[in-house]
Amino acid sequence: MALISTARGLIFLALLGIWASSQATCRTLHEASSMLERHEQWMARYGRSYEDITEKEMRFQIFKRNVEYIESFNSVGNRPYKLSVNLFADQSNEEFQASHNGYKRTSNPSTSSPVTAFRYENVTAVPSSIDWRKKGAVTPIKDQGRCGCCWAFSAVAAMEGITSITNGKSVSLSEQEVVDCDTSGEDQGCAGGLMDDAFKFIIQNKGLTTEENYPYKGVDGTCNKNKAASHAATIAGYEDVPANNEKELLKAVANQPVSVAIDASGSDFQFYSSGVFTGECGTELDHGVTAVGYGTAEDGTKYWLVKNSWGTSWGEEGYIRMKRDIDAKEGLCGIAMESSYPTA
Ligand SMILES: *[C@@H]1O[C@H](CO)[C@@H](O)[C@H](O)[C@H]1NC(C)=O
Repeated sequence: MALISTARGLIFLALLGIWASSQATCRTLHEASSMLERHEQWMARYGRSYEDITEKEMRFQIFKRNVEYIESFNSVGNRPYKLSVNLFADQSNEEFQASHNGYKRTSNPSTSSPVTAFRYENVTAVPSSIDWRKKGAVTPIKDQGRCGCCWAFSAVAAMEGITSITNGKSVSLSEQEVVDCDTSGEDQGCAGGLMDDAFKFIIQNKGLTTEENYPYKGVDGTCNKNKAASHAATIAGYEDVPANNEKELLKAVANQPVSVAIDASGSDFQFYSSGVFTGECGTELDHGVTAVGYGTAEDGTKYWLVKNSWGTSWGEEGYIRMKRDIDAKEGLCGIAMESSYPTA
């Protein structure tokens, strides 16, 4: 009797085991198929298509890893910012860095141009917050696409800012003209460049034409001298903000949109969606963006308002708020290390 019941017990346990493992299998299959569905939906939303089934499988694996990372990040409570499964969700962080940044860090600062004047050095009163968008000095968010010319977008946005502040006219200017025509210093179109070198080019070029006249293509092209001849705006010079001091940067941003370089290499930056960004990031400057304001969030966190050039589906409608006044003198992601602005 005892033996029989043991045998029955074993059979019961064995059946239970089969049932449990089939449940697990079903769940795994279900999860996989829902991830496949999510990938399909994501592809439709962002208009992505792949060469063949091999590429699709490879992209799916990256997508899956990214989705899992984003969801686990967001599941932790009290994060000051959120990530989202955005347009970069099928790109590994390495390839993302290679294709969407393009700021060429001054590798040897001692060989770079001497320190310029800083016209805001004696500024004492600055407003507690400023948003240059509200003053009409910021054009709509643009999209550099898969071209490492962030530096052109950053410089042009700063130039659009000073043009609007000085002349009261908001005009969208041509990044493609800079990409095609600027060979000054480190500037190499989609292969990268520096905002200061872009300002040098614009001064020498005696201005820039409009976005409308010389529209963005997202690839390196031949300089169209006819189009480039009809300038819509000019700058007289540019100045560097004294490095590694957020107080100095504040004086400048209080007066005009400023080109800033940051380390945008991390996954958290790639998938940033909303809130005040606090890192992870280092200070290996690889991306040019534009500080178009600053303020204080509801919870008291001070932030920089930064215009990016990755379209409106990234971040807060194309913008990111980055933590301001941190302990490190370089600022978050190195934002206070190499900033500059054009002068009217
Ligand atoms: C700032 O103040 C100092 C001392 O008065 C003066 O020498 C300097 O020219 C001022 N800088 C600017 C940019 O006005």
